Amino acid sequence: MRKPLVAGNWKMNLTVAESRHLVSEMIPGLQSIEGVDRVICPPFTSLLAVSALLEGTAINLGAQNLYWESAGAFTGEISPLMLSELARFVILGHSERRMYFNETDSTVNKKVQAALAHALTPIVCVGETLEEYEAGLTEEVVSRQIRLGLAGLDLRIGNNHTSPLVIAYEPVWAIGTGRAATPEDVNVIIARVIRAVLFDEFGERISQSTRVLYGGSVNSDNASKFFSEEEIDGALVGGASLKVNEFVKIVQAA
Ligand code: 13P
Repeated sequence: MRKPLVAGNWKMNLTVAESRHLVSEMIPGLQSIEGVDRVICPPFTSLLAVSALLEGTAINLGAQNLYWESAGAFTGEISPLMLSELARFVILGHSERRMYFNETDSTVNKKVQAALAHALTPIVCVGETLEEYEAGLTEEVVSRQIRLGLAGLDLRIGNNHTSPLVIAYEPVWAIGTGRAATPEDVNVIIARVIRAVLFDEFGERISQSTRVLYGGSVNSDNASKFFSEEEIDGALVGGASLKVNEFVKIVQAA
């Protein structure tokens, strides 16, 4: 059994004061839900303030990126060592980073290794662009992103029987567009591509214990349809994670 996980990716939104306000409003609703891992991923500048508010709650904190070195002359970057004091999760390889910040499968790979070495759980994002989707390349692209993004990793099942990483399948054409993929299609891609590649590379236990989320225009109306599919273990939510009622309802659905 894989425990459902819902993560809110705030992207580049909210000042520190706004972050404090949103999290304070969300805590009561999120706290009362059991059986779902809840993760909030604010921008770096809000991590400290949000971590203080989440102390003593069962809600987890995640970052949206990291650099793979622990420390040094890398102006403007944030290391896994710094994050490990604050956060338990980190989103890596998001399509916006691949698109606007030249992130590649090879840099994603270094980041995943660095996260695991510092006991951070990576939420590794994969997904095809609209062009690739229309050209029928979904399987090829997602399979390559997982093989190269996770190449050479020594993945071990933890004491809690879960895989050390989470994968988020986010078709780029579904992000922020209001045009979500269909739950049935997502289920097939997770089973035939994502779990199949994990099986090939890391064996049955990792393939079956890795939580795979869907992301792309998830809201409180469509969430339960995704969660009722066998292979979908939760969601990575963008826009709707900035609205208290929407996000709480999505976690409830999970
Ligand atoms: P939206 O939920 O706004 O489509 O964003 C999805 C996403 O990119 C989460 O990482």
